[in-house]
Amino acid sequence: MSNDRTAIAPDQLSPPEAAAEMARLAERVAAADAAYHRDDAPIMSDADYDAMRRRLVALEAAFPALKRADTPTAAIGAGPSEKFEKVRHVVPMLSLDNAFSDEDVAEFVARVHKFLATHGQPITFTAEPKIDGLSLSLRYEAGRLVSAATRGDGAEGENVTANVLTIAEIPQVLSGDLPEVLEVRGEVYMAHADFTALNAKAEAFGGKVFANPRNAAAGSLRQLDPKITASRVLKFFAYAWGEIVPEWEVATQFERVEAFGRWGFPINPRMVRCSSVEEMLAVYRGLEADRANLGYDIDGVVYKVDRIDLQTRLGFVSRSPRWAIAHKFPAEKARTILEGIDIQVGRTGAHTPVARLMPVTVGGVVVTNATLHNADEIVRLDARIGDTVVVQRAGDVIPQIVEVVDDGAHAARPAFEFPHLCQCDLKTALIREETASGEEGKIRRCTGEFACPFQRQEHLRQFVGRKAFDIEGLGEKQIEFFFADPDLPVREPADIFTLAERNAANPLKKLENKEGFGPVSVAKLFAAIEARRTIALERFVFALGIRNVGETTARQLARAYGSWAAFHEAAEKIVAGDAVAREEMDAIDQIGETVIDSVAAYFREPHNRAIVEKLVAELTIVDAETPKSDTAVAGKTVVFTGSLEKMTRDEAKAMAERLGAKVAGSVSAKTHIVVAGPGAGSKLAKAQALGVQVMTEEEWLALVGAG
Ligand code: IVH
Repeated sequence: MSNDRTAIAPDQLSPPEAAAEMARLAERVAAADAAYHRDDAPIMSDADYDAMRRRLVALEAAFPALKRADTPTAAIGAGPSEKFEKVRHVVPMLSLDNAFSDEDVAEFVARVHKFLATHGQPITFTAEPKIDGLSLSLRYEAGRLVSAATRGDGAEGENVTANVLTIAEIPQVLSGDLPEVLEVRGEVYMAHADFTALNAKAEAFGGKVFANPRNAAAGSLRQLDPKITASRVLKFFAYAWGEIVPEWEVATQFERVEAFGRWGFPINPRMVRCSSVEEMLAVYRGLEADRANLGYDIDGVVYKVDRIDLQTRLGFVSRSPRWAIAHKFPAEKARTILEGIDIQVGRTGAHTPVARLMPVTVGGVVVTNATLHNADEIVRLDARIGDTVVVQRAGDVIPQIVEVVDDGAHAARPAFEFPHLCQCDLKTALIREETASGEEGKIRRCTGEFACPFQRQEHLRQFVGRKAFDIEGLGEKQIEFFFADPDLPVREPADIFTLAERNAANPLKKLENKEGFGPVSVAKLFAAIEARRTIALERFVFALGIRNVGETTARQLARAYGSWAAFHEAAEKIVAGDAVAREEMDAIDQIGETVIDSVAAYFREPHNRAIVEKLVAELTIVDAETPKSDTAVAGKTVVFTGSLEKMTRDEAKAMAERLGAKVAGSVSAKTHIVVAGPGAGSKLAKAQALGVQVMTEEEWLALVGAG
């Protein structure tokens, strides 16, 4: 692959050039991330990876509008891996029920009293911070750390022993009066200072920037390479236990955790005992007030019944104990200034507004932007640039703007005008996309389709896909290559069909000599392209990439119009406002306003028209078979159910449709025939109940004359 372009300074690139390079880099960085983190099989050297990533970061900085919502540079750590060995938890790792208000806490305490039938006898609870990290189970045998596992699904976690051995705060050998088997459980977390330092380093060197300390802790612990874990500062608080053999005499939660402290585990200094709801709520208020000064993220307070015998009596409801509850803090909010609204363009042309904010700390995390979802949301909030806004962050949810605060100058500021044109340099008109139910949607989307550089690559992918042109040897990877290749660029579908000719005309830069290609593969590729110069109308219509025109709709259109000329003429007439042409299209089975509007929008767009015209000139489009109207099943609605023996479902469907029948997925009073094979169930029963004609596969084949 050519790397020439990486030498070009970002500000020398045009937006389409940058878009192409960014798409290529994003894909490669994501692939390298997956290979490294998930598959433990790096596909490039660290230096190459760093260079590639830095280039992408630089391009994203130079072209913020082209930054993909799912860019790998914003990745929030490694996902769960299949590569870690699984560990079964002898004692399941449970989660906690939540309380969101004082009343919820009072109800929890009342429930505990009722369950234990205490008749007013006081019960002691512990109260402690709920650490926002990830839980970990540490197994010690004869005082030695033998394994460490994440919670996983509660029953089975990931074996992260090698990584845990690098965490300084976790003791590897315990001394004192110890049970033979001891599982200590608690939370791994990253302190604010260590998190900030890690991200600062990542930003400077183009590494992974984490969204919050919890993601950083999880990403650091779930590394396949313990060296990476070792380079991150992880901390731990012990607050629970799993298997303990022999039974442990220590009778209360509080004393057990204190014992952990004596054995060398960090325990939270804010753990206290309470004997009433009022005391519990006072602890909650105190921790809420101190939250920003703790040095690590907490997201609430956990209350636990102190006596172990009572915990045992209370037991569990599904996956949480009856003896504990997490009293969550409300989502954190902060005020700041809305400095600007950027529009990000996704790969499908969707335009998403993003609020640019004066940096503000919300719960220990600096927030610089927030999602605005869509144009309607800006109107709903009446957010204007310069306004004072309230930003909310809940867990790792993307920060949101929840309200605009009137600072006296709001009314004087101009209302935000959502762009009507695409951010691409073609300045194509944006439409509001309709939802499947026909309601006007909230998403603003570029109608440029193939002409919009953001969407062009995506469309080219569909164009060569299995259900469209299905060109052997021209898959996503090759499309990506040709899209970015300066010598043989493929920027629109017609370019595919001029590849061989252009290659022949440029003997100095032959494709045959490029990495990944050779004379045989190139000859094969060109032959495969030639073979698709003749294409069935339905594939062609689908391949155009008209929004809302999927495979089935394309087939319906192809069958209804029969030829490209007829379909094209109808589309042109609809664009011109011809009501008859519109009605005719509306009359086609399964085709309604959404499709018609999408067809009209597509053919109204000059760039699309030019692209289609060039493409058609390269091809022979084979007419579709129009459905027969003189067969035994013409106009009938048929449902296939159970297994078919002589043909596949797809074949059966295609044959029925060729013969003029309509194939439905469910049985109703409108169904004429149900073809039931072995294993038919509820559909057959329904047909019988409704008195619909039922036949076997043989009977069906005999009826249509194919038996
Ligand atoms: S006790 C059987 N105590 O919160 C109860 N959990 O929402 C075991 N957590 O999975 C949990 N701080 O990861 C407990 N002081 C604390 C906690 C805590 C954080 C986490 C833990 C648990 C989750 C449940």
